[in-house]
Amino acid sequence: MSTHGNRTAGRRWRAVATAATATALVAVPLTLTSTTATAAEAHVDNPYAGAKQYVNPTWAATVESAATRAGDPALAAQMRTVAQQPTAVWMDRISAIAGNADGNGLKFHLDEALKQKTGSTPLVFNLVIYNLPGRDCYALASNGELPATDAGLARYKTEYIDPIVDMLSDPKYGDIRIAATIEPDSLPNLITNSSEAACQQSAPYYREGVKYALDELKTMSNVYTYIDAAHSGWLGWDSNAAPAAKLFADVAKTTRLGFASIDGFVTNTANSTPLAEPFLTDPNKQVGSGQVRSAKFYEWNPDFGELAWTAHLHSLLVAEGFPASTGMLIDTSRNGWGGPNRPTAVSTSTNLDTYVDESRIDRRVHRGAWCNPLGAGIGELPQATPAGAPAASHLDAYVWIKPPGESDGASKEIPNDQGKSFDRMCDPTYVSSKLSNQLTGATPDAPLAGQWFEAQFVTLVKNAYPVIGSGPNPSPTPTVSPTPTVSPTPTVSPSPTVSPTPTVSPTPTVSPTPTVNPGASCSVKYTANSWNSGFTASVKVTNTGSSALSSWSLKFAFANGQTVQQGWSATWSQSGSTVTAANAAWNGSLAAGGSVDIGFNGAHSGTNTAPTSFTLNGATCTVG
Ligand code: GLC
Repeated sequence: MSTHGNRTAGRRWRAVATAATATALVAVPLTLTSTTATAAEAHVDNPYAGAKQYVNPTWAATVESAATRAGDPALAAQMRTVAQQPTAVWMDRISAIAGNADGNGLKFHLDEALKQKTGSTPLVFNLVIYNLPGRDCYALASNGELPATDAGLARYKTEYIDPIVDMLSDPKYGDIRIAATIEPDSLPNLITNSSEAACQQSAPYYREGVKYALDELKTMSNVYTYIDAAHSGWLGWDSNAAPAAKLFADVAKTTRLGFASIDGFVTNTANSTPLAEPFLTDPNKQVGSGQVRSAKFYEWNPDFGELAWTAHLHSLLVAEGFPASTGMLIDTSRNGWGGPNRPTAVSTSTNLDTYVDESRIDRRVHRGAWCNPLGAGIGELPQATPAGAPAASHLDAYVWIKPPGESDGASKEIPNDQGKSFDRMCDPTYVSSKLSNQLTGATPDAPLAGQWFEAQFVTLVKNAYPVIGSGPNPSPTPTVSPTPTVSPTPTVSPSPTVSPTPTVSPTPTVSPTPTVNPGASCSVKYTANSWNSGFTASVKVTNTGSSALSSWSLKFAFANGQTVQQGWSATWSQSGSTVTAANAAWNGSLAAGGSVDIGFNGAHSGTNTAPTSFTLNGATCTVG
């Protein structure tokens, strides 16, 4: 059994539990500086039921400020609804506990949570424990500050978990329900990536670190622990799911409270796997050459979404000895997949892969694509015991663990002091063998993991499904401005991929497109990578004139009915075959000799000839 380490400073009350008194928590005063202690709220089965959840005011302010820049009032209203939603607070390094340049500390948030708790309505505070030694062993973008060594583990315990527990165990927070997501990706990596040296090195520290976190957090009856259980596209196959359930049980058995140290599991953390595929409801259905689940996109995985995965996992967990009351959470912050590319009907193709590709709402190139996936939208709003979810999924709630708008990783190397590295899964120009040799489909120009990424946020809101403001799901904290009725957003219109009608907003409202700029001269380099019916194009625009431009507008025409689906670093619009890219708010000034890199994802129907003629502010550009 672990000792509690030499943690005395700052912790006024220590709760002690032993295996023999698993549910009897004893509060032991360590000093006499007594704040009146309220007994911590009794543990309940589903902490979300009948509760409100904490809305992070710092994140909400960032979203509110994005709304002021949204341009389109309907979009701004949707953003303001998003700003009222609860999101998790991530303790992603030691300095996050006290607060650092990237955010307020834990005490700030807990004190804010106390303010948000009104009357007798319980309040759930979603907290992410995310700092294991050797963190993110199979990827680079969220590598952490602690090495996978004994010394790293010692620091994890004494400098990270202990101070968090000290802060949480202040009696004044005893009535806040702390729902802790424990260490995203860690145990799942030990199931599928144990052949990697870094994961082998991390394995004992992940197990011991998670055990320690559970032992310490479960000294407080108002804390609820949810172990990260990846997502259906990662662990859905029985050959992964069964060993995962066993690993979770093995770790639980090493803790002081055994199975009682884990209240539940959270799936899809920071991922974009949908709840279900509305047009692919039977994985065993025979189409063309085989069953739907044997298509390339599913690789025989029977679980097409998180509702299937939570049900599947729950039954395996119970078989391993977990109680039937084990609850499930699904992170729905970014798994909506609405917007122009969402299919509206099942495919009529008799070719299996075409059938799946045309029917699926998950528009990623591959289910392993995790970094800032293009086209993803916000999913269901946070809600307890979601109506309509299968009973077999044992859902406690849909939650937003990943705050929408925060990056998953940088698309280029960015020096930093957080231990984060450049993962090419975040680079849209990279073809990855982990994705069946396809381009990653990551959103370009992404900042470091955890940093605000406004271009992605805009897409997430536009592509939300259910459409925000339309839904059956009222916002849980309808306190701020009355949400204006939102006119149906043009992005959800049915025509998906092939139609040549413009799918981007037809009238760029932001910067007025200048007409002709006397003396302007320019050169353009256009490169495209095509696949089946899609392509990604990068366009480098250089001002070869002798004077700087304060705004610019590039025009070109497609020869084969191609369409711009989604663009970046400019305001994109299309009318017939003519495409216009007007500068975004931040890149309008283009020095003499200066360049700007813009790009877009497009659709084509077989032929994809590059445009040959471009104008910038009316002047014809040289190409090449
Ligand atoms: C990523 C980052 C982390 C951040 C979190 C939430 O995992 O590595 O720093 O807090 O996402 O955005």
